[in-house]
Amino acid sequence: MGDLDGRIALVTGAATGLGAATARALAAAGAKVAVTDLAAPDALAAEIGGIARAQDVSSEEGWTATMGWLRTEAGGLDILVNNAGLWLFKPIIETTLDDWRRLHAVNVEGVFLGTRAAIPLLAERAHLWRGGTAIVNLSSVAGLQGAAGASCYNSTKGAVRLFTKGAAMELASKRIRVNSVHPGVIDTDMGRKLLDDFGAAQGVGNNEILAAVSAMHPLGHLGEPQNVADAVVFLASDRAAFTTGSELVVDGGMVAG
Ligand SMILES: NC(=O)c1ccc[n+]([C@@H]2O[C@H](COP(=O)([O-])OP(=O)(O)OC[C@H]3O[C@@H](n4cnc5c(N)ncnc54)[C@H](O)[C@@H]3O)[C@@H](O)[C@H]2O)c1
Repeated sequence: MGDLDGRIALVTGAATGLGAATARALAAAGAKVAVTDLAAPDALAAEIGGIARAQDVSSEEGWTATMGWLRTEAGGLDILVNNAGLWLFKPIIETTLDDWRRLHAVNVEGVFLGTRAAIPLLAERAHLWRGGTAIVNLSSVAGLQGAAGASCYNSTKGAVRLFTKGAAMELASKRIRVNSVHPGVIDTDMGRKLLDDFGAAQGVGNNEILAAVSAMHPLGHLGEPQNVADAVVFLASDRAAFTTGSELVVDGGMVAG
């Protein structure tokens, strides 16, 4: 018996990184998992016995179509993981309005559109589970503290943090729980891009920047995708039945000091 037996989950941006690890972890916990990304993650869906579809989370029509697909192909929705996201590392003075809008369109509007589209489906099945149904939003430690060169990304992840809390207040009466997860630097394509960007900005090489960024985490190393996936599974399950509007930090201690 898995914690998520009988649940239907959707993970966006699931082709790689945290989304793929989360999809695998949800499936291992017993959920039927739908995975979407800019290109359909068909191989992942085949691996975990799920279903796949192409979806751009910044498209309103795309969300309507994805909810129709879930209803037809999966029978509804119990867990929405708003994972898709973009990274940007640029000084404010070099950030174009297009940069700003693109990042907010994916990281913030994507979360809003997904939440809004999923409410009817999540509300329909909330009576089935002790802990209701669940939305988990990927914020970041960058949604809790600033970093030079990451202010646009900070803005998006800070917005996700507080949108999550407002949504939690609003959806509690429907028994839909809404929580955010705040990873430190995790070893994914995006995590590696961050290391490259930080290294270039400081004029240091790969090994040196890996050591420096690892040392920003008191546990002394980058996180693994599984660390974040485990946190998402917990928040999605009845083990978190009394947890809504919370921010679960998965950062090796980075923001605790
Ligand atoms: N890796 C980290 O260190 C880290 C830390 C904190 C938070 N996060 C957040 O976790 C989430 C996942 O990060 P990751 O490291 O796996 O990133 P990643 O870049 O490795 O993967 C992101 C995935 O999202 C997809 N994507 C991008 N734009 C999309 C769109 N418009 N519609 C649908 N899919 C889209 C990409 O195709 C890719 O498959 C992101 O929201 C990110 O901001 C990551």
